[in-house]
Amino acid sequence: MSSKKIRISLDNKNIEVPVIEGTLGYKAIDTSTLNKEHLFSYDPGFTSTAACKSAITFVDGEKGELLYRGYPIEQLAEKCDFLDVAFLLFNGELPTFKEKELYSSTINGQSLLHDQLNNVFRGFRRDAHPMAVMVGVVGSMAAFYFDNMNINNKNHRKQSANKLLAKVPTIAAWSHTYNLGLPFVYPKHDLSYVANILNMMFSSPNKPYHVNPIITRAFERILILHADHEQNASTSTVRLVGSTGANPYACIASGIASLWGPAHGGANEATLKMLNEIKNESRINEYIKRAKDKNDDFRLMGFGHRVYRNRDPRAEIMKVTCHEVLDELGLNNEPLFKLANTLEKIALEDEYFIEKKLYPNVDFYSGIVMKALGIPNSMFTAIFALARTAGWIAHWHEMMTDSDNKIGRPRQIYTGRTQRDIP
Ligand code: SDX
Repeated sequence: MSSKKIRISLDNKNIEVPVIEGTLGYKAIDTSTLNKEHLFSYDPGFTSTAACKSAITFVDGEKGELLYRGYPIEQLAEKCDFLDVAFLLFNGELPTFKEKELYSSTINGQSLLHDQLNNVFRGFRRDAHPMAVMVGVVGSMAAFYFDNMNINNKNHRKQSANKLLAKVPTIAAWSHTYNLGLPFVYPKHDLSYVANILNMMFSSPNKPYHVNPIITRAFERILILHADHEQNASTSTVRLVGSTGANPYACIASGIASLWGPAHGGANEATLKMLNEIKNESRINEYIKRAKDKNDDFRLMGFGHRVYRNRDPRAEIMKVTCHEVLDELGLNNEPLFKLANTLEKIALEDEYFIEKKLYPNVDFYSGIVMKALGIPNSMFTAIFALARTAGWIAHWHEMMTDSDNKIGRPRQIYTGRTQRDIP
């Protein structure tokens, strides 16, 4: 904790506020008491606001570094599986062999849904977007798993966190098969977390799915890359909803809803849509021009980031994974991948993108990989959501133990009419 202070002089008044320092990253001015001086800080979009203290994930936007509990994302993507990472995010340490065995069997053992939850799916149109189904069904979990749960009890929080980590993949996979009018395929006790997701999505009663270890490993890496990213929009949504004391299922359903936006988790689906629209390399310059045109609301999807003003380390790992999957599937002449490569090259050499520090983000290549894996566009963000559930439950749990935690209630700069009477 820094002992430094900063002085603000305004209207012949001198106000001193403390400076806060964490273990890594920027120092912060503690503006929490400014309201006592009848002052607010103004920061739409929270570009310069630390909304909380957290020990879970650190992002260095200048260096392009991402740490989960201090471990670099490159090492986690290489050496761990998704449940190792989920355990790490929630508990702060990687699991021992015994802890991992227990965690895997606990999560696998809870991967089935209450049989009545199946009926909630049936309330949706078959062509409903999987994210709409996920928001609805995850929110409905509160009607099935919330009785005698005390969110202030650490063990109760752990139990609901495990339920969410175990059941959200089943809900995501079933959102896909429901869309296709296919019967639900149940999770199996002898498949890994990730193999179960692929099996539930792609097998059917008359056609077993062949679990390809290279594809499974690539999919595992995609989930690890998407597991957490500090105080992004959807995680901040989960924290804000959680700060009201709402149940964990409502919190995660709100995170899924927030992630859906094309400026956030919906960008992977939007990136693929954009690549399909660009179609071939001869049209790239036309779209780059549009992306730079202030009068055109078109943006280069999969490019730019609020925090990364340098490389997004996840994008680079995703690009390598993309190559591996396309090679494994004999798709290395996949036109979309070649188009994305050329688009990336042209954009990175363009003055506008250089000056505004716009680089490919995690969503630029993820859509191509997931398409190659046979995952339909509409499921890309659903996959992002099931991965980010690991981060959301960790942040919710951390927030519930934070002594600074209080209901989130931002203020405003009022620009409306002064008081007046109805004539
Ligand atoms: C994710 O926060 C997270 O951590 C998110 C995430 C996570 O893991 O949770 O990393 C996941 O959401 C990745 C981002 C996915 N979104 C996209 O790929 C959509 C395309 N990108 C943009 O919409 C944008 O870059 C954002 C939303 C990602 C970031 O927006 P910011 O930080 O608010 O940036 P900005 O709008 O202030 O842009 C700064 C300038 C602007 O120009 P000026 O007003 O200064 O002239 O850069 C321009 C923008 O117009 N710009 C772009 C652009 N992104 C920013 N111009 C063209 N194409 C783009 N993609």
